[in-house]
Amino acid sequence: MKKLQIAIDGPASAGKSTVAKLIAKKYNYLYLDTGAMYRVITLMALRNNLDLNNERIIMDKIVDHTDISFKVGEDDQLVFANNEDVTLAIRQENVTNNVSTIAALSSVRSALTEKMQLMAKNGGIVMDGRDIGTTVLPYADVKIFLVASVKERALRRFKENQQKGIDVSLETLEQEIETRDYKDSHRKVSPLTQAEDAQLIDTTSMTLEEVVNKISAIIDQINNK
Ligand code: DC
Repeated sequence: MKKLQIAIDGPASAGKSTVAKLIAKKYNYLYLDTGAMYRVITLMALRNNLDLNNERIIMDKIVDHTDISFKVGEDDQLVFANNEDVTLAIRQENVTNNVSTIAALSSVRSALTEKMQLMAKNGGIVMDGRDIGTTVLPYADVKIFLVASVKERALRRFKENQQKGIDVSLETLEQEIETRDYKDSHRKVSPLTQAEDAQLIDTTSMTLEEVVNKISAIIDQINNK
C-alpha cells in the first residue's frame, strides 16, 4: 500500500489532533502536531523575555538554537526542545495566548515549514495544522479541512479543561477561540484557509467515530485505486 501524506487543517479546537492521532494509529502512520512546533518557539521566547514581534531576535536566539523533536509516549506524543520534555509546558495559557504572534513571523514559518516537509518526505504521515494543505504539503494525497462552530469548540475545550482541573469560563474560552481564529485567518503569511482541493468536514454535530470513519473512507478509496 502506498504511504500517504495526510493533511488535516482547520481552526483551533476543531478536533484536529484527536482525529489525526486516531487516523495515524489506524493506518500505522506517524502523527505530527505542527502547532506544537510553533508552541515550542513561543515557550522559549517567553522564557527568555524576548519581544515576540522581533523576527530577527526570535530567529537568532530561539529558532536557530532549538532542536524540536517528538517521541511516542505511553498515552500521548511527547514534545522535546533541546532534549527537555516540554509536552505540558507548551499547553500553558500564556503560550496558547501568545503563539499566534510567533506564528505570524514569516522567517519562523519558513524555518518550521522546512522541518515539517523533511519529516513528511517519505509519506506515511498525518499532519495537523493550519496551512498543511495549502503551503507545507501542497501535494498531499488527502486534504481535510475540519471545522466546528465556536460554541461547540469552546464547549469541547471546557470539558477537556474540567478533566484536567483547569478552571476557565465558557465565555472566556469562546472569546479566546474567536481571537485566535481571527489572528490565524488574517495574518499575512500562510493564513488559515481551506485548500481548494481539501474536503470540508463540519464536526459540530458529528461524533468522533463518525469523523474518523469519514476520513478513513477517503483514505481507503485512494488505497484501493
Ligand atoms: O493547533 P495549535 O493550537 O496547537 O496551534 C498553535 C498555533 O500555531 C496557532 O495559533 C496556529 C499556529 N499554527 C500555524 O500557524 N500553522 C500550523 N501549521 C500549525 C499551527
